[in-house]
Amino acid sequence: MGNSASISILKPDGTLPAIVGGDPVRAKFLVFGAPDLGEAEIQEVVDTLRSGWIGSGPKVARFEQQFAEYQGAAHAIAVNSCTAALHLSLLSLGIGAGDEVVTTPMTFCATVNAILHAGATPVFADCDPRTMNIDPQAVRDVITPRTKAIVPVHFAGRPCDMPALMEIAREHDLKVVEDCAHAIEARIGGKSMGTFGDLGCFSFYVTKNVVTAEGGMVLTGNAGYESTIKTSALHGMSKDAWKRFDDEGYQHYEVTHAGFKYNMTDVQASLGIHQLARVEENLARREDLWRQYDEGFADLPCFLPAAPAQDTRHARHLYTLLLDIDNLIVDRDFILDALLQENIGTGVHYVALTRHRFYQQFAPGVRFPGAEFISDRTLSLPLGPGMSQRDADDVISAVQRLLIYFAA
Ligand SMILES: Cc1ncc(COP(=O)(O)O)c(C=O)c1O
Repeated sequence: MGNSASISILKPDGTLPAIVGGDPVRAKFLVFGAPDLGEAEIQEVVDTLRSGWIGSGPKVARFEQQFAEYQGAAHAIAVNSCTAALHLSLLSLGIGAGDEVVTTPMTFCATVNAILHAGATPVFADCDPRTMNIDPQAVRDVITPRTKAIVPVHFAGRPCDMPALMEIAREHDLKVVEDCAHAIEARIGGKSMGTFGDLGCFSFYVTKNVVTAEGGMVLTGNAGYESTIKTSALHGMSKDAWKRFDDEGYQHYEVTHAGFKYNMTDVQASLGIHQLARVEENLARREDLWRQYDEGFADLPCFLPAAPAQDTRHARHLYTLLLDIDNLIVDRDFILDALLQENIGTGVHYVALTRHRFYQQFAPGVRFPGAEFISDRTLSLPLGPGMSQRDADDVISAVQRLLIYFAA
């Protein structure tokens, strides 16, 4: 750390940046997490709209099959969000009232809301401040006779220590539902995230590495879970009920239980099919941007994302820079605001859930030093495959200028 004398706070044309009274580093706002949608996606959506079948149908089935193949999973069930995927996964395991489910405070609220919607009690186990992933020892520390499951979150695309977590699950007879919202391309020893636990849940929300506007997927190796989730995602109607209006004529169905309306549509799957086809190519671009950011920020008062662990693949979903606030004269929110003035969109992933008043009831008075360290310092920068080199250069110069100017 420490300032690099070789980096100037001046813009390339010698003028001052926005934060000290000049023009912003770029004139046009760089949106954080903008999706990269191509002509193939547009044509597929048009084809679907013209086909007369825009609800759940053959394109959803195709997307499920392609996603299962890409991840090496036996079964994939498409739903309308990762939140729905998590909810149905927990229900398929029979988790409900009186059960405790262990998860991390360093996640999006959907992870914990799904536990609550299943009727169970969330129990927080702290994360490692460097990897930002749930700490297996912290999980051990909160297990009680009521613990039924662990929901690890592969934060920012970095795989959790699944061998350690699966060992804990075996020892204590717990189920594991992986929150893979950030981790579509992540691997440990070549094995996909979502295939270590009993079920894995993915998100295709607008900012994710595969986008269907809204959408999610459950992976499982268990045919029983697959069948329950498939029917529960569509009112509890017998499997393949979506075929009831197809050209084979009307088909009767049976409702087996009160399910939900969580199904994906063919319009969404039209996007997913082509997004998935480009996911590896897009990952290469994300890796390239990541490397440029690591190089550009190496000498600034900040902590770079931890390098991926041996024999793992990071999905490079979020580039989360940790500001070294002890060596800056301003706080993280000030830098967020300053980047906005420079026309660079940012995100915060996340303020620990245990800092939200609502979730404090599940851990009254408990401190989570790992998650709190991240909460005060983290700032996510744009990392989309659709970004131009100019966009990346603008992000790098804006961050360099601000962190040098406001260094303590
Ligand atoms: C870690 C995590 N889990 C779950 C979700 C919920 O995903 P969705 O918006 O598809 O319901 C998100 C969404 O951002 C997420 O980041």
